[in-house]
Amino acid sequence: MASPVRPNALVTGGSRGIGAATSLRLAAAGFRVAVNYHSNRAAADEVVAKIEADGGSAIAVRGDVRAADDAAALIEQAAPDGRLDALVCNAAAASFVPTPLGSLPWSDFHAKVADELAGVYSLAQRALGLMAEQQHGSIVFVSSTVADGPPAPGMAAHGTAKAALNTFARFLACEAGPLGVRVNVVAPGFVRTEASAGIPEALQRHLADRAPLRRVAEAEDVARAIAMLIGDDAGFVTGAVVPVDGGSTVSRM
Ligand SMILES: NC(=O)c1ccc[n+]([C@@H]2O[C@H](COP(=O)([O-])OP(=O)(O)OC[C@H]3O[C@@H](n4cnc5c(N)ncnc54)[C@H](OP(=O)(O)O)[C@@H]3O)[C@@H](O)[C@H]2O)c1
Repeated sequence: MASPVRPNALVTGGSRGIGAATSLRLAAAGFRVAVNYHSNRAAADEVVAKIEADGGSAIAVRGDVRAADDAAALIEQAAPDGRLDALVCNAAAASFVPTPLGSLPWSDFHAKVADELAGVYSLAQRALGLMAEQQHGSIVFVSSTVADGPPAPGMAAHGTAKAALNTFARFLACEAGPLGVRVNVVAPGFVRTEASAGIPEALQRHLADRAPLRRVAEAEDVARAIAMLIGDDAGFVTGAVVPVDGGSTVSRM
């Protein structure tokens, strides 16, 4: 008997943190997942091995999401049959060191915002091309609640970059909707990953205490929200920016 055809998904930065949890989640939901990484091949291989051990299907795909040529190659590898069902733009491609605006050179501010957008632009454009042909597809961007205002000092470049990402996603949702393609955003608050490991324990406890759900997020919390937005249960949801922050954004206490 022929094996069932799996829908194809590409998860950028799928090798670690939120992306790894998302790769595992989408694979469990039946997707063939292209697990993108930039430099750490071993981490991507580990995610692929876990997926295969659970009976799923995945491949590790190297590429810098900021480079248009790499983006094209990633989409090709993720969609070997020319069909792409899901794109999750999650890679932490724009590095930053929290810095007050007063001492942040324009070149650093510019690089942060440009890298954030370059990391999604070509991928989204190419994915939309394929998805429009098939009149079906779902794109999710990983933003941050920092887009809505500073949670800590020195976050202006990061916040501006993520706010631009949210706006890009909303415009894309309007263009993609008539083509049968949904576009949404998840906006996590603090999430426990390697990227956030340097945040002091005391601050993490403070963040947990002021969240209505009384804890900080794990990568799986964000992955579940992404999978929900990718899946058919969110079939009439597009252009949404969904906070995944245990209610921290709405709480004033
Ligand atoms: N952690 C948080 O508290 C938090 C909160 C809000 C939003 N977010 C957002 O969530 C996303 C993931 O963050 P995370 O904490 O899960 O990060 P992470 O654990 O540091 O993982 C980053 C991932 O991105 C990949 N990556 C980095 N640069 C890349 C590039 N140029 N091209 C392709 N892949 C690249 C890394 O691959 P390699 O290892 O191969 O380099 C890795 O797979 C980011 O967009 C971040 O802004 C995080």
